[in-house]
Amino acid sequence: MYLEKEERIYGFIGTGHITVAVVHGLLKSSYRPNQIFVSPRNAEKAASLAQSFSEVTVAESNQEVVDKSKVVFICVRPQIVEEVLSDLKFEEDHIIISLVPTTKMEHLSKMVFPANKMSRCVPLPPFAEHIGSVLYYSNHDYFEEVFKGTSALTKAEDEDQLHVLWTYTALISAFYELLNQTSQWAIKKGVPQAVTEKYAASMYHSLSSLALEVGEEGFSAMAEEAATPGGLNEHVLNRIMAVNGFDVYHEALDEVLKRVEKA
Ligand SMILES: NC(=O)c1ccc[n+]([C@@H]2O[C@H](COP(=O)([O-])OP(=O)(O)OC[C@H]3O[C@@H](n4cnc5c(N)ncnc54)[C@H](OP(=O)(O)O)[C@@H]3O)[C@@H](O)[C@H]2O)c1
Repeated sequence: MYLEKEERIYGFIGTGHITVAVVHGLLKSSYRPNQIFVSPRNAEKAASLAQSFSEVTVAESNQEVVDKSKVVFICVRPQIVEEVLSDLKFEEDHIIISLVPTTKMEHLSKMVFPANKMSRCVPLPPFAEHIGSVLYYSNHDYFEEVFKGTSALTKAEDEDQLHVLWTYTALISAFYELLNQTSQWAIKKGVPQAVTEKYAASMYHSLSSLALEVGEEGFSAMAEEAATPGGLNEHVLNRIMAVNGFDVYHEALDEVLKRVEKA
């Protein structure tokens, strides 16, 4: 599916943190949109986007965003999505891209009827710089076209798979806390905070770069290879395994997945 340049008119319902990142990322692409309409809330963020990019216009209302756009991104919090969308009138040829984690396609289709080309996706803030991968599920081929020239894309085969992978995003705080705990330990040993934090971040960054090249044998082979018998890595891994330390991750992810699926 191809979008002509004049069809690349994108609208955003909800101008919050993730909209700012997505607008930056889309406009950094060589397939940049022709025009972008953002809803008037949040006023400060909308004004700042319009000031930064000549393509961005702050609409008078959410309905104006919908009326002027071919592709409509839904970027409000889950608690208000129904209330916000129930006030809006869509057309059949609108392409809908929802970032709301808990609104399933079936429910969404009722709220945006008669539009029927829909996608659900999960860009994260580093999308602004085209870092990371955008997870998505879509019932049409325009999604890839809209995101062409930006980050890598990870396509879920169905909504069940989307929910499982979306659950990973609940690990973000735990990841930063792991960095924090590592750094706090070093600070107590006398290492300056700035030194340990920079070093911890760059160490995990380099390990993530290697992990992106994971082979057919998977992450368990990488873990095993790093854990030289009698070595320092084996020492730490054995300590965590001895108390079934990773079980808590499985349990927490199961709990989060139930919440994502139930909504
Ligand atoms: N942040 C992420 O990394 C991320 C990633 C993937 C998906 N998401 C999902 O994307 C959605 C937005 O997340 P966010 O982090 O950008 O949240 P956010 O910063 O709170 O943005 C939501 C925006 O919606 C605006 N809003 C409130 N009522 C509105 C209305 N009636 N019409 C239009 N806009 C209205 C708010 O404006 P005011 O500020 O004026 O209240 C706010 O700026 C959520 O469903 C979230 O789960 C977020």
